[in-house]
Amino acid sequence: MKAIAVEPGAGDPVLVDRPRPEPDAGHALVRTLRVGVDGTDHEVIAGHHGDLPAGADRLVLGHEAVGVVEDSNGTDLEDGQVVVPTVRRPPNGTNAYFERGEPDMAPEGEYVERGIVGAHGFMAEYFTSPSEFLVPIPKQLAALGFLVEPVSISEKAIDHAVASRSAFEWEPDAALVLGNGSLGLLTLAMFDTVLEIDRTYCLGRRDRPDPTIDIIEKLGSTYIDSRQTPVDEIPGTYESIDLIYEATGYAKHAVETVEALAPNGVGVLLGVPGPWEFEIDGGRLHKELVLHNKALLGTVNSHRGHFEAAVDSLSQLPDWLFEELVTGVYGLEEFEAAFEQGNDVIKTAVEFDTL
Ligand code: NAP
Ligand code: BGC
Ligand code: ZN
Repeated sequence: MKAIAVEPGAGDPVLVDRPRPEPDAGHALVRTLRVGVDGTDHEVIAGHHGDLPAGADRLVLGHEAVGVVEDSNGTDLEDGQVVVPTVRRPPNGTNAYFERGEPDMAPEGEYVERGIVGAHGFMAEYFTSPSEFLVPIPKQLAALGFLVEPVSISEKAIDHAVASRSAFEWEPDAALVLGNGSLGLLTLAMFDTVLEIDRTYCLGRRDRPDPTIDIIEKLGSTYIDSRQTPVDEIPGTYESIDLIYEATGYAKHAVETVEALAPNGVGVLLGVPGPWEFEIDGGRLHKELVLHNKALLGTVNSHRGHFEAAVDSLSQLPDWLFEELVTGVYGLEEFEAAFEQGNDVIKTAVEFDTL
């Protein structure tokens, strides 16, 4: 079968031939339909994040997949069922995090991530997986199933942000997304449509006309240009924000989030930056957090419950959003196009097969 693999930090993804996998007991064989590409894939390709599987010289990419069960192999799945795989797997047998159904809370060394850290991904015509890591989705969502994983990331982030404010009366009226990439825009849509937050903002660094700014404004949100209004100036120019979601991978935004928060607000950080030293007034940030009961938290990955919630959220988002957000779905003969970047590219996917 064909697969898309990369030597991290050493070039572009290439098409390779690999043996079609045979499912072990308890595993199902899945025929891949589509696999999405996100900022993390570009970080993996550049060699800035992730790791090869032990003994491999290339990594099969892809962690945002949707497929159809080809052989349920005696598991509780049914042949023909449309499924989305979760990303993390236990490295050796199982461990307490996986047994609790919380692989997303496992520390380094207690997990591998398919297509990212230490395990091959889903960009192949077929893949196998223990059935417990395959989440059935409705057939009518199959074409957009590659968006379930990224939305699940935000389901977890929002869950944790809300939980951190659950000890008192808290209802966010203003929310801000830092970053107008695919994760940022999907989350902005969730803030507007699913959470129905009154006032939403999204920060980018683009000139108009730009397709991401069009989406932001069509959602009824306000576009903030970080070149004109840095994060710490947002309260002065716009307003203080109750809930901030960072999806730029730009480390300065992570710390400046504290300044943009309203009293009792929460900032949730998603970016995975490289090392970067810069000057900050640590005393001021410390005091802001304390005197205004602010919270700043990091979050990574997601568990099965978040995938199930993501299916529900996706079905509430408007069709026009997907038409504008998904800028390209490419077959194997032109898979390279799915990895191109530019201001006219928002979300892409590789199509391996159709239902
Ligand atoms: P992406 O497509 O690269 O989006 C990042 C966006 O941030 C881009 O649109 C970029 O704008 C914008 N940006 C960067 N620096 C900025 C600045 N200084 N001011 C304003 N805008 C800025 O990536 P993505 O797929 O949406 O993911 C976003 C981040 O989340 C990445 O770092 C990714 O690794 C991370 N992530 C984390 C998790 C997790 O579990 N924690 C899951 C998925 C993704 P331009 O395009 O104009 O440069
Ligand atoms: C993936 C997560 C993963 C994270 C860190 C994200 O792009 O969606 O599943 O945990 O990267 O590797
Ligand atoms: Zn991702």
